Amino acid sequence: MPALVVIGTQWGDEGKGKIVDLLSERADGVVRYQGGHNAGHTVVLGQETFILHLIPSGILHPGKRCVIGNGVVVDPAALIEEAGHLEKRGIPIRGRLHVSSNAHLIMPYHKAIDKESERLKGARRIGTTGRGIGPAYVDKMARIGIRVGDLLEPDLFREKLTANLIEMNFLLEQTYKTERFDLEKVYREYMGYANEIRDYIVDTTVLLNQWIDEGKRILFEGAQGTHLDVDHGTYPYVTSSSATAGGACTGTGVGPTRISAVVGVVKAYTTRVGSGPFPTELKDDTGVQLQERGHEFGATTGRARRCGWFDALLVRYAVRINGLIGVAVTKLDVLDACQEINLCVGYRFRGKTFHDMPSSLTVQESCEPIYETVEGWQCSTIGIQRYEQLPVRAKDYLSRLEERIGCRIFLISTGTKREEAILLDDPYSLQGQNR
Ligand code: IMP
Repeated sequence: MPALVVIGTQWGDEGKGKIVDLLSERADGVVRYQGGHNAGHTVVLGQETFILHLIPSGILHPGKRCVIGNGVVVDPAALIEEAGHLEKRGIPIRGRLHVSSNAHLIMPYHKAIDKESERLKGARRIGTTGRGIGPAYVDKMARIGIRVGDLLEPDLFREKLTANLIEMNFLLEQTYKTERFDLEKVYREYMGYANEIRDYIVDTTVLLNQWIDEGKRILFEGAQGTHLDVDHGTYPYVTSSSATAGGACTGTGVGPTRISAVVGVVKAYTTRVGSGPFPTELKDDTGVQLQERGHEFGATTGRARRCGWFDALLVRYAVRINGLIGVAVTKLDVLDACQEINLCVGYRFRGKTFHDMPSSLTVQESCEPIYETVEGWQCSTIGIQRYEQLPVRAKDYLSRLEERIGCRIFLISTGTKREEAILLDDPYSLQGQNR
């Protein structure tokens, strides 16, 4: 029963879209288990580029079934829009996409609260995507959330909405000094969505466990990354969901004994969008070059991503937290032109040296990275499909990286297109021990 979880090992934007797309070829079903339309998974197919925010990337493979699990927060307008765009581009959705009845809905007041709360935080703002993700999870935990399945019970939906709007409108008007939401307007809007998405809504826990019973292959597509995880990330500068492998179980209702492996996606350098610590961040020309060569601009918000050298402490932490048995390295070609490449192997803070990720935000924010420097290969690796064809120095960089993170590389991505990759091991049959 191969059920494979794919997660991001850094702060998201590692190139998971492409890796999930490659691995989807051999899966029967692809599942999102956390986050919402804050994600931006880019997949290039021939001359066409697709950016998926909410629907699993597997939808681009004909015949694959896709699930949005209970751990996801769903903005129905975003779902309808994304499905519509895909259908217009010839990707059929009906009968292939299933949305958990227990997934929570993002409501219009969530978006308003997200924006207003960021505004009030001032310099301490998180730099959210402004899509209402955090406030929707707040309501879920506060046990006042409205779920996708509630759309199918209009009376219950109205009852919950009425109760919530009393609190939310008070907050919006009294604290944030902004506009209130009208019950009838929101009710009508959401009942309209209900009509459009009712066919997608099911108990996905039954569906997924049945697929596993039937021996089907399932791929769990993590969104964001380990260091944006609400428990294990650089809190409070994180997203509000469980972006690590554990989230795949709680976010889908598939038990841990049914997951066969977890693999990670690692960018050959580091990026981050939004606020928060970033020890290897480059605020000089090298950072700008990485940003330009890597097209490091957010797929969801268009924001410029902060860029820096590869940080082995971050990724080794992700290997541990997620129990990774292999990693796919992406965007190696962005380093093609570098004369020298730095790889962070430790942090220094007030005379103390750290070889493992420190939990203190103060240390993460103010430490100095300790680098190992390797010579660059200074030739193109774009499109290489065989390991032997990589320049020797690129191979050296990869083995150094592998050694420092303590996890084997099973795939190297050498470009944006599907075929631009070197597959070293089959992730569905990866077993065993990391170094
Ligand atoms: P939120 O998820 O919109 O609440 O944003 C919280 C933090 O997570 C912000 O720093 C965002 O920039 C970051 N974030 C959310 N989704 C992504 C993503 O898909 N890639 C990278 N960063 C993300």
